[in-house]
Amino acid sequence: MLVTEARRRLERKKARAAQPHPSGDKRLLILDAFMKRQQFRGDALIEVLHKAQELFGFLDDGLLVYVARALKLPPSRVYGVATFYHFFKLKPQGEHTCVVCLGTACYVKGADKIMAAIEQRAGIKNGETTPDNRLSLLSARCIGACGIAPAVVYDGAVAAKQTPESTLALIEPWMNRHGP
Ligand code: FES
Repeated sequence: MLVTEARRRLERKKARAAQPHPSGDKRLLILDAFMKRQQFRGDALIEVLHKAQELFGFLDDGLLVYVARALKLPPSRVYGVATFYHFFKLKPQGEHTCVVCLGTACYVKGADKIMAAIEQRAGIKNGETTPDNRLSLLSARCIGACGIAPAVVYDGAVAAKQTPESTLALIEPWMNRHGP
């Protein structure tokens, strides 16, 4: 009897774990799991913000509020920490953003070559913005889309199985001052 109940509980737990995040963004699932490992402790805030930036490339308002809620901290405290440390980026500065996933699955499928191709074309390094503010180039660590590696996020939209050529074709219009 006890064994059956324990098994049922385990199955319910597994089913919950397999459910997608309500927002549909797998990166939040990974962030949730990370915060859970930290037992949602408020004093793990800096580690959590690091993880969030690793996943998303930068910390926007929605993400900071999300973390504040999860860790049960006042948003002002989370904003305070995020703005105090220069390491944290609150927004990309460019009109367009390209986030290359450099997590293991993407890396072994050539994400480093994609990054190198963009760096060369745009004349900037990972983490920088072009002098004309057209493009910010960022990297993330596993955005939860390993099945479609290598993945690149263009202006917030995840693109599957990218190559240096497909990426360069996509960002080319952004390189032109009069482009979109
Ligand atoms: S390693 Fe890139 S999505 Fe997982």
